[in-house]
Order: sequence, then C-alpha cells, then structure tokens
Amino acid sequence: MAKRVLILNGPNLNLLGTREPGVYGAATLADVEVLCTDRCEAHGLECDFRQSNHEGELVDWIQQARGTAEGVVINPAAYSHTSVAIHDALRMLDVPIIEVHLTNIHQREPFRHHSYVSAVARGVVCGLGPSGYTLAIDALAEFID
Ligand code: DQA
Repeated sequence: MAKRVLILNGPNLNLLGTREPGVYGAATLADVEVLCTDRCEAHGLECDFRQSNHEGELVDWIQQARGTAEGVVINPAAYSHTSVAIHDALRMLDVPIIEVHLTNIHQREPFRHHSYVSAVARGVVCGLGPSGYTLAIDALAEFID
C-alpha cells in the first residue's frame, strides 16, 4: 500500500488564483493539488490534499495524521504567524513536516516574518510559488524512504 502524505492548506488559500494575484500568482488551489498529486504519484506516495479556513479543523486533521500519514506538507497561511495550537499539534507528530509558503514571508510585512510552525518543521520552503509544494514532496519522499 502506498505511503500517505498529508498536504494541508490554511485560511484563504481556497481563493488562490483570484486572491491578490500580484502577490500569490495565477495558479488556483486546484492547480496546486494537481501538481502535488502528480508529484506524489511519481514517488509512489498517496496524496491527501486538504484546505480549511478553520484553525480547529486543521488541528483535528493534524491529530488524525498520527499513525496514518508518513509525512506532512503544510502551508498554514495566516495561522503560521498566530497559532500555538497548530504548533502544539504538529509537535506531537513523529513524521517529517515541511512548511511551505508561496511567497517569501521574510520580504513581506514584519508580522509575517515569524512562523510558529518553523520550529517544528524539518524544513521550510518559501518564495518559490507552487513549486515549493513539489520540492517539499521531493524532500519528504527522500526522508520517508
Ligand atoms: C502564505 C503567507 C502568509 O503570510 C499568508 O497569510 C498566506 C499565505 C504564503 O503561502 O505565502 O495566507 O502562507
């Protein structure tokens, strides 16, 4: 059975493509999902791709990943900068976690420079647009192997 990778997306990422395209680009979340599914398939991994605007739902999904996912890619979106709950849920996982941001958060407003998720992530990819997700999957595939 293929090993499962959980790919989580936080608030407002459902509006990718129409949300500030000058900042986030033209790709929709559905486009990103296709990229991720294809890349996972290429590595023989199963892709479980999800998005939520709700912190608690993301926490529930992270808790459910215990024992059911071999790795996690997460773009926590705005919750990166605010959520101790997501940080705490992620730190209970014993599988590799890669944090992804479409934009380079360090070039943006100061309130985006700190992420509560980075401290519990094995690695962070930011500023590379949707390619950040596929690079994160490549890294996870290597770690899982
Ligand atoms: C983001 C960056 C966050 O600061 C922002 O709140 C997002 C998206 C990114 O992918 O660049 O919603 O995580």
